[in-house]
Amino acid sequence: MNDAPAGRFRRYAPSATMRGSCLAENCSAGAPATQCMNSSEAETLKSYPSDLEERVEHHGHALILRPIRPDDSPQHRRFLAQITPQDLYHRFFAGVRQLPESELAHFTHIDYDREMAFIAESPQSGDILGVARACADQARVSAEFAVLIRSDLQRQGLGTLLMQKLIQYGRNHGLRELWGYVMTDNVPMLQLARSLGFHVRRTERNVDEITLDLQPTRPVEAS
Ligand SMILES: CC(C)(COP(=O)(O)OP(=O)(O)OC[C@H]1O[C@@H](n2cnc3c(N)ncnc32)[C@H](O)[C@@H]1OP(=O)(O)O)[C@@H](O)C(=O)NCCC(=O)NCCS
Repeated sequence: MNDAPAGRFRRYAPSATMRGSCLAENCSAGAPATQCMNSSEAETLKSYPSDLEERVEHHGHALILRPIRPDDSPQHRRFLAQITPQDLYHRFFAGVRQLPESELAHFTHIDYDREMAFIAESPQSGDILGVARACADQARVSAEFAVLIRSDLQRQGLGTLLMQKLIQYGRNHGLRELWGYVMTDNVPMLQLARSLGFHVRRTERNVDEITLDLQPTRPVEAS
């Protein structure tokens, strides 16, 4: 993975021993936009789940946590421009200088069905401060997640806040499991995952798979 060409987005390809990455293959990070946009922007907005919007107080500041929308595209572009190469590498498993326009649409055009992405937004500036997203399998049982916090705003609890929102969403929607790939040198994410109760399993030399059981108290069905 270290040989990713600098300045070019390259999709992370899990090996045969790893799960297929939904985020990397189908949804937000690699396929042509039309594969993710199964409807027009207007259609997308019709299904926008505004009931998931909330205003919270975080370290004395107001914050909006809400699902991302197609019209967040300019803010999302600005957000990505403020991420360090190291953070982009940890998020995308590749050297990324600039994501192509064709890829950018995926991040803001989601179906709110299999895909969900929550942003933390500053109510004053409208800036995106962080994003946590998930993409479920066809059966809506298990979802792969990814999280990215603006590099200059890390270690202030935003990652925890957005992950908690995503976990709550997954629970409320009957998902059984949230999982993701994390590079073994990504201490911040591994620490954050452990603090949220994720189980960490080594899959390959440089990659851990982290998993959270979202329904741990689910009663065992009678046979
Ligand atoms: C991983 C990431 C999301 C954490 O977000 P964050 O907002 O900084 O996390 P929080 O402030 O909520 O920190 C929660 C806990 O994570 C751990 N943590 C966060 N940053 C850490 C760091 N630099 N070093 C060690 N532990 C760290 C700590 O246990 C922390 O709790 P504490 O501050 O009470 O000690 C952020 O660093 C990031 O966006 N990284 C780049 C993208 C990425 O790696 N994504 C994960 C792959 S999907």
